[in-house]
Amino acid sequence: MKRLAILLSGRGSNFRAIYEAISNGDISNAEIALVISDKKEAKGLIFAKEKGLDARFVNPKDFESREEFDKYIVDLLRGKEIDLVCLAGFMRVITPYFVSAYRNRIINIHPSLLPSFPGLNAQKQALEYGVKITGCTVHFVDEKVDHGPIIIQAAVPVLENDTVETLSDRILKEEHRIYPQAINLIVNDKVEIVGRRVIVKEN
Ligand code: GAR
Repeated sequence: MKRLAILLSGRGSNFRAIYEAISNGDISNAEIALVISDKKEAKGLIFAKEKGLDARFVNPKDFESREEFDKYIVDLLRGKEIDLVCLAGFMRVITPYFVSAYRNRIINIHPSLLPSFPGLNAQKQALEYGVKITGCTVHFVDEKVDHGPIIIQAAVPVLENDTVETLSDRILKEEHRIYPQAINLIVNDKVEIVGRRVIVKEN
């Protein structure tokens, strides 16, 4: 069994999709061993507590720097013997200290087809740019924001009458599909990183 940690800041719908995929067997060989939120009132944190998971609020204000915060998080992860860290709407840039402590063992979901539209408000950026196709990306996390090797992407059309909300909803459905899929591949040792490329290994 691989032990997952979920880091989130808000609604937690990707976390729920992961939770459900574990419950229904779409993700095998994994359990959620820890949920961390940097926001006390995050819906995802409340859901985790309802499900009886080890769910912790870590207040950034209690730390003098981003590195001190990340050191505390890394200690928590090590204490729980976490194998894979899943950022799921965790709206903080993580420090190089954290990345190197868990190199190639941190993944993220981002609501655009990277390398297009990194950073905040990716769906709004896509709409304003006028692209006809956008989507979402699950990728390994490296030192640069929204940059590491890409595991899975899904494409979504941009429709003429889309608003940020309608486009975000369409992308979110795909996020909920590909994030569990990517986790299932990783925890079952089906992916290999070769340079910037992620190769999915056959049986
Ligand atoms: C998701 O759309 C995720 O892709 C995005 O935040 C949302 C979190 O929703 N993440 C980023 O923009 C990271 N740069 P959720 O809390 O319902 O999973």
